[in-house]
Amino acid sequence: MSKQQPHEFLSPVWRDGIFRGRVVFVTGGAGDICSAQTRALVYLGADACIIGRKVEKTEAAAIDIAKVRKGARVIGIGNVDVRNFESLQKAADRCVAELGSIDFVIAGAAGNFISSIAGLSPNAFKAVMDIDTIGTFNTIKATIDHLIKSATAHVSPNAENLPPGGRFIAVSATFHYTGVPMQSHAAAAKAGVDSLVNSVALEYGPYGVMANVIAPGPIEGTEGMDRLGSSGFGENVVTDEKGQQLRPSVRGGSPSIPSGRWGTVRDIADATVYLFSAAADNVNGHVLVVDGGAWRRQGGFLSAGDNPALQYPGFLLAGAASSRKKTASKI
Ligand code: HXC
Repeated sequence: MSKQQPHEFLSPVWRDGIFRGRVVFVTGGAGDICSAQTRALVYLGADACIIGRKVEKTEAAAIDIAKVRKGARVIGIGNVDVRNFESLQKAADRCVAELGSIDFVIAGAAGNFISSIAGLSPNAFKAVMDIDTIGTFNTIKATIDHLIKSATAHVSPNAENLPPGGRFIAVSATFHYTGVPMQSHAAAAKAGVDSLVNSVALEYGPYGVMANVIAPGPIEGTEGMDRLGSSGFGENVVTDEKGQQLRPSVRGGSPSIPSGRWGTVRDIADATVYLFSAAADNVNGHVLVVDGGAWRRQGGFLSAGDNPALQYPGFLLAGAASSRKKTASKI
């Protein structure tokens, strides 16, 4: 049995086998969000190839994901850095050689940490731009010919209700919609990702490839939020004038988020299934934000939490620069 139960990575609305015969190639596929996306697709019939920098972590994730469906084929290819085009291309070639095709791609590899511009070296900014933006470009370049082939072979809709092919999703973020302190690097990098996908939609749409973005908000239980979440996205308590705790929303959760809760990996997996399914045959160049409306209030991020040390702009004026452990002024 896989580490996760189906209800943890997929809502119960999808039909079994809707991705049968299709192969998904996923960068960052061992990570919390992308492994759930992959798990959902595999559960619904796809085979998968997941790519990552860490060999053991990537191979172990592939083995675990394969357990969600009898007969699933899931390959984990470690030691692949999306900043290195050649290693990515080799991985794509291996995926096609072993699994037969690449029908869907998820560009999910990302790097992030909390730092102000003052705390960022030029190399730190470049590292995140390279992983997120250049890495997404490299992923497109390494897989686009396979996606065109798949889109040509699996035109959708079709009378047989066979699954589509030739779909691309980049996993982005929402920081750049408003600007978020301590995230200049990730915001710039994800703005670049969104822009790139616009061009893919325009240039490859005529070949049948549908390219879209999923922009998750804060997702509970992920490495990203463990690193970034010590802030106003969180569970700050709201009280009345007598100090009585007020119920922040009907879901009882997070007052900073209009929907009242943090996102889950299942939210993102469901969005992925939608965009790769025949239901999204004519959705191209779209950004699907899955965050409960959080970005509309994200001035609160790193500014309105209950931790006084994180009140904007006090923490900046006090000289806080970076979450890097060796930095004295630690966030
Ligand atoms: C300031 C930092 C830093 C920090 C690293 N650097 N951490 N600067 N504050 N906290 C600097 C380093 O000093 C170095 O600059 C430069 O960044 C590159 O660091 P390296 O460790 O040499 O690079 P590398 O090994 O390639 O690591 C890349 C990384 C790292 C991005 C820095 O954090 C990483 O590998 N992350 C991958 C996993 C990850 O981040 N997952 C979370 C993704 S969540 P100098 O000048 O010293 O050479 C996400 C979305 C979250 O992306 C959405 C939430 C809503």
